[in-house]
Amino acid sequence: MHETATSFAEELGHEHASLLQQLEELETMTAGSTVSAVGVLLETLRAVRAALHRHFLFEEKGGYMNHVLAHAPHLHRRTEGLLAEHHHIGRSVEELIGNAAVASPGAPISAEVCEHVRQWVKLVRGHEASENLLVMEACCGDIGEED
Ligand SMILES: [Fe+2]
Ligand SMILES: [Fe+2]
Repeated sequence: MHETATSFAEELGHEHASLLQQLEELETMTAGSTVSAVGVLLETLRAVRAALHRHFLFEEKGGYMNHVLAHAPHLHRRTEGLLAEHHHIGRSVEELIGNAAVASPGAPISAEVCEHVRQWVKLVRGHEASENLLVMEACCGDIGEED
């Protein structure tokens, strides 16, 4: 593995780890076992949105696409598919914030909003896991299927 690819994979790993911590916070808040107010949820969602914005820029401009394509051009379709998911994830977090903001900040989070947040967290987790796998495949050789 090339040194730049290794350090990029490590940096991506760190970024993902810190993002996962924020996703865990959202999960805990919407698990139903704790009572959290909408205002707290909104604050966390806005922080995650900002973190995701930075993270997506890092991946797009950095970017893992260049690294993957340089090392494993046959993975280009999966790479492009994952980058395209950024738009969907960005739009859906805006929707979540919009839906949650309808309630007053002190109100408990509705079951419907909790469910949407949990679904969204699942989507983002799946996205990050697929990226980790893709970068690992590109850096470490053929451990997965080709496009
Ligand atoms: Fe991504
Ligand atoms: Fe990512």
